[in-house]
Amino acid sequence: MENKFDKILVTHEEILQICKRLGQQISEDYKGKELVVVGMLKGGAPFMMELIKNITVPLTIDFMQISSFHGGVTATNLVFKKDIETNVCNKHVIIVDDIVDSARTIAEVMRLFDTRKVASIEVACLLDKPSGRLVEFNPKYIGTTVPDAFVVGYGLDYKEYYRNLPFVAILSEEVYKND
Ligand code: IMP
Repeated sequence: MENKFDKILVTHEEILQICKRLGQQISEDYKGKELVVVGMLKGGAPFMMELIKNITVPLTIDFMQISSFHGGVTATNLVFKKDIETNVCNKHVIIVDDIVDSARTIAEVMRLFDTRKVASIEVACLLDKPSGRLVEFNPKYIGTTVPDAFVVGYGLDYKEYYRNLPFVAILSEEVYKND
């Protein structure tokens, strides 16, 4: 898969700054508390790994995976693939994801955690794409807002590629125009 981008939206340096700022904010907000940080696989993993280095309150980590796939032109189905192993009853939970776009995935995850009697639950995302919303949802911790474009890098993929890029970029239409 050839690396073809229209524009770098968030540089590596900016991502490190975002993780520092959000880490400080979370450390302040959860002072005296213990946290369970839940990363959404696969896209949320790189952001989560950098973010937790900047959080100073005691925490444990776990992972969850929900995949979305397009079953036809319009319908998108969510498939639950992996659950956490931690008992989160009465715990403070932060879900970490790469991007909140339609918010369908995160809405599903919030519904699930509601049934688990958590003490509190919030969402931290590297990117917010409000123009993509199909479900109303406002993440508490947002790295930065992106325009209505398909972005890749720092966990975000196109056909499983580009997750390793140290920055976030708009993928060139040339790459996917014949799909
Ligand atoms: P949702 O639309 O908010 O449910 O987003 C579900 C998942 O789709 C995200 O966690 C990403 O992994 C993926 N996704 C959404 N928008 C983009 C994008 O612009 N580029 C790459 N992946 C995306």
